[in-house]
Amino acid sequence: MRLYITILFVLLPLSVFGQFKKGPYIQELSANSVRILWETSSANKGRVVYGLRGFPDRSVEESSSGTFHNLLLTGLLPDREYEYQVEGDSKKGYFRTFPVTIKPVKFIVYGDNRTNLNDHQKVVDAIIKENPMFIINTGDLVESGISADDYQKFFEIERELLRNICIFPAIGNHEVIDPTLTIYKKYIFPPQKNSQNKEWYSFDFANIHISVFNTYDGLLTFSSDQLKWIESDLKAASENPSIDHIFTVMHHGPYSASNHGDNSTAKSKVVPILKKYGVDMTLAGHDHNYERGEAEGLRYMVAGGGGAPLYSSGTSKYTIYSESVLHYVVFNVYGPDVSGCAYRVDGTVMDCFNWTKGNPLADAGYEDISVEDSLSVDVKDISELTDTGSANDIIDVITDYYEEADIFIQDTNYSDTEIKDAGIQDAAEIPKDTGRDSSDVNIVSDIFIVRPDSQPGAANDSSGCNCHFIE
Ligand SMILES: [Fe+2]
Repeated sequence: MRLYITILFVLLPLSVFGQFKKGPYIQELSANSVRILWETSSANKGRVVYGLRGFPDRSVEESSSGTFHNLLLTGLLPDREYEYQVEGDSKKGYFRTFPVTIKPVKFIVYGDNRTNLNDHQKVVDAIIKENPMFIINTGDLVESGISADDYQKFFEIERELLRNICIFPAIGNHEVIDPTLTIYKKYIFPPQKNSQNKEWYSFDFANIHISVFNTYDGLLTFSSDQLKWIESDLKAASENPSIDHIFTVMHHGPYSASNHGDNSTAKSKVVPILKKYGVDMTLAGHDHNYERGEAEGLRYMVAGGGGAPLYSSGTSKYTIYSESVLHYVVFNVYGPDVSGCAYRVDGTVMDCFNWTKGNPLADAGYEDISVEDSLSVDVKDISELTDTGSANDIIDVITDYYEEADIFIQDTNYSDTEIKDAGIQDAAEIPKDTGRDSSDVNIVSDIFIVRPDSQPGAANDSSGCNCHFIE
């Protein structure tokens, strides 16, 4: 009897609901909703049972019969684990809704998984073990965007990953082999709130904002419509007090030292916007290797080792690390801190990185600032100031850090011209309440921070006042 019931259970999905060709997989995950999608070999009216993990007390059903199934689950609570099961499927899926407050975040970046299916599978298997909260795919999901077979292969390889983890892809040049993106748009549902035609979109996860662009929406370059959207989206994110980190994603990024090289349009039209709004890192693919670098203050990454034929990695003056290998990248973000590592598919680490938004002075390589302790940062060589951005950036940081602090600069090693060349515009504007005259203070290599309770004129003698200084 038990055997009979088991056989019946296995056969029912095939006979009543058809074979599951794609999925079930999740898309458009947010704090309060998720989209469940799947495709069956024969038409039926899809139904999903779902609820908080362990309590699947709700269900939703399609209004008509078909082979492609698309159900949006709404009214979910933020930052909760849910389970779902499509009727006829023997497996459940699990997902966690987006948090709306700061919490530790782990996400993965990979891309260019097209073409070599076995290699793509290796990358997917490695990512499944990492169990990230979401995934960014940097584009080129398929060999040909006009081939339904290629999308079928993608979803077969990614089935167990996408059942539980939401992927947020960028459109690659292989997707736009079909300029209408018809198949892509049938199966991929990016967040709709800030989306236009599913081609560019953005979303927030905890204190992170991620903007995803389409490199190829205007004659293989960025259209003016998209550039306007990028500007408004990043402006809003930069002004949002809940957002600490901004990442952008585009398939062919502005910087790469491998085969395709830099994207000159991205450099001339997009990078100025990214810099204007303080983007923390721009992610890309297209070149089938790994590269991380920093170009004129903008961090960049090429993560294109997801299965496509590998390209030789190169180096430019901006490259920090590059390697030609199948890989994925893990990002960890918590509060002001960002860290991560790039992994080969065998699990070995090839490159790690970190930065913090909480104290950009420390990010520039200087010691951490503590209000309680004297500050000790070596800026003996004025060129160090210019190399790390500009001295004024550092002064701004310090001013922000000690909200009411008075800052002035003194020494005798450099001329006014040198100071101005270093970007220090405040040299002649010595705070009046220190009792010092700007003509007394020539120069800079010591930056003194005098707190409001310090004694005027005592800044030269740290032992006699409540001075915090950088020397
Ligand atoms: Fe590409």
